[in-house]
Amino acid sequence: MTSPAFHAFGKVILLGEHAVVYGCPALVAALSTGVTVETPPGIGRLRVPAWDLDVPPSVYEGGEDSSAPTVAKAFAALEARLGVQPGARRPVDYVVRFAVPTGAGLGSSAAMAVALARAVAASHGIAASMTDIEEAAMASETVVHGRPSGLDHTVSARGGFGVFVRGQGLSPVVAHDPIPLVIGHTGRARDTKGRVARVAELVAGPDGAAVRARFDQIRALVERGRAAVELGGPAGLTALGEAMRENQRHLEALEVSCPEIETMCRIADEVGALGAKLTGGGGGGCVIALAPGREEIVKKVWERKGFATFITEIGARQKVSST
Ligand code: MEV
Repeated sequence: MTSPAFHAFGKVILLGEHAVVYGCPALVAALSTGVTVETPPGIGRLRVPAWDLDVPPSVYEGGEDSSAPTVAKAFAALEARLGVQPGARRPVDYVVRFAVPTGAGLGSSAAMAVALARAVAASHGIAASMTDIEEAAMASETVVHGRPSGLDHTVSARGGFGVFVRGQGLSPVVAHDPIPLVIGHTGRARDTKGRVARVAELVAGPDGAAVRARFDQIRALVERGRAAVELGGPAGLTALGEAMRENQRHLEALEVSCPEIETMCRIADEVGALGAKLTGGGGGGCVIALAPGREEIVKKVWERKGFATFITEIGARQKVSST
């Protein structure tokens, strides 16, 4: 008999990362793939074969100051939020499998947290609501990322395509046409925690007012982007590409870009993309390009430069789930 498995989606941010931490909206979509957690009979070991990680409860129960890896401390926070007591009997192990690249800005850590929260709740017979799962995932994400907006785990848990606002959640957006995206990896791990902390320094610094003015401009870009995807067609995609391009200039000014991201955006531009930008935490991770009809060309030129790339589509009949 196969053991139960639990899933959660990866995500892509079209517009608005970082500003979303300060209450601005972000335009986001779940990816069709994400993270699965298998639960074979066991004793509660947290196993991540892709990272050669195998942590027994005696280690992750060691608390914040222990030498346990961050991911294990995050797991302990998640379990605690669901009400699992230290020393509890755990009848299964938790085996994490990724179908999205990790450390890429595509929401792998949030998807891992949501899938683990679902697995922990089920294996302990806890009747967890969507809110319980999301709060457990937020506890985990706070250990990993510092001051997350909640965007990643909300999209990961609920799926769909829409506008996320911190504290308000995800409201669905219906795209007129599916949005074809090219997603390429810089080869450098994204640095969500470090970049979020740097933006916080800029906000608190002498140019804080200018940074906040930038957030207002990003807010306007998200509104334009939303209207563009609802409009669809060549005019809609062109407007969305322009918004992405402008958003990237703000992200660069907020010090969350990196040389590889800038190179990838320039290359995409040279071969006729309508827009390209980083997605997620930045400092590395992935770049998205909107290049309808030219996806294969962008993929080819990025791969020629050594950036692993795939093509996907978002926004098509993706519904946000409320339960
Ligand atoms: C990370 O995927 C998105 C950020 O805006 C951080 C957050 O929303 O918590 C950079």
